[in-house]
Amino acid sequence: MKQIEHTTLITVYEHNNELAAADAELLQRSKQAMAHSHSPYSHYPVGAALLLEDGTIVEGSNQENASFPLGLCAERTALANSAINHRGKAVKAIAVSVGTEVAAPCGMCRQALLEQESIQDTPIRILLRGGDETVYAIGSVKELMPLPFYSKNLR
Ligand code: THU
Repeated sequence: MKQIEHTTLITVYEHNNELAAADAELLQRSKQAMAHSHSPYSHYPVGAALLLEDGTIVEGSNQENASFPLGLCAERTALANSAINHRGKAVKAIAVSVGTEVAAPCGMCRQALLEQESIQDTPIRILLRGGDETVYAIGSVKELMPLPFYSKNLR
């Protein structure tokens, strides 16, 4: 018998002045992206911003639908935006802003982020900002995904 342990290291920033300038900018862009959210059903706007390898910042926001299951999370609209408009560029980091306490990407978005991390084979940093400006930082999507399901599982 053996046991496998999965650890997630979360760095918590309680004051804005503790953040690196690049992180503060990405977080600010994710906060701005909340303005483009279409969330008349949940009333829960979410904004996301991706930092690409060439320094470009790409935004996304949650887009809901009267047929509720059709809604898209901010993280996945940002990933799609990047895939279409900045094809092939690696994602260095994603920032996600909400108006409530810090919220982490849902399971579907973790899986989508993991796919991008697998394609580019470099870690994507995750920055999560709450409405009170608290920020959680996590070094890679893998840290949020114990026992991940990868393309290699299909072989
Ligand atoms: N949502 C996101 O955009 N990202 C997440 O990580 C969690 C949830 C959205 C989906 C829905 O539009 C609203 O938040 C409420 O669940």
